[in-house]
Amino acid sequence: MKIESAIRDQYRKMAKDQGYRSRSSYKLLELDKKYNILKQNDTILDIGCAPGGWLQVSKKYSGPNGKVFGIDLNPIKPIPGTSVIQANIEDPNVVQIIKQRFSLSFDVILSDLSPSVSGIWHYDHERQISLTLVALQISKQLLKRGGMAVFKIFDGKYSSNVKQEASRLFMKVATNKPKASRLKSSEFYLVCSSFIGNDYTT
Ligand SMILES: C[S@@+](CC[C@H](N)C(=O)[O-])C[C@H]1O[C@@H](n2cnc3c(N)ncnc32)[C@H](O)[C@@H]1O
Repeated sequence: MKIESAIRDQYRKMAKDQGYRSRSSYKLLELDKKYNILKQNDTILDIGCAPGGWLQVSKKYSGPNGKVFGIDLNPIKPIPGTSVIQANIEDPNVVQIIKQRFSLSFDVILSDLSPSVSGIWHYDHERQISLTLVALQISKQLLKRGGMAVFKIFDGKYSSNVKQEASRLFMKVATNKPKASRLKSSEFYLVCSSFIGNDYTT
């Protein structure tokens, strides 16, 4: 068996055994271990949350008083202690919808957004970057000052557009590829700390 598929099977089995809905959960767990993203009592927004693995991790780490919300094009089976809306993040009213349904501001915003991949690399890359830039704009309007955010990126020609915009909005921006992420996949994550706030941006 090839190493890559053995690792994939190992994470699938772990997710099944530990009750997580996706192997993606382990990517967030790894990032959290390194960067201490999720804290007790946090208010957390997960953008592109289906099937719900990151929501489960967020709920676990924010504790009984943590407030965990998600948004996705697709419906998900309910997860106790979390609320989800089925909506398109490209809807121009999405920030208003989130404020009305969830909260006016968030301690942490997570984005594991991925388009339905076509297999045509440059197209998938551009589409994923475009979605991530929308997630950044949403974060700009909804994060508390000092807040943290995580953004998945399909690496390629336009990755630097996201990094540049993130660097304007946060004091610190780190890049990381968790072990749970397939070696072959071009994805990596930006972990952004200390949101500076809109006063410093135009
Ligand atoms: C890789 S999955 C997220 C997995 C999730 N982190 C987990 O642990 O279960 C990416 C999600 O992004 C969502 N997505 C893609 N485009 C979107 C859009 N325009 N609006 C809302 N969600 C979107 C997809 O529906 C998909 O569920």
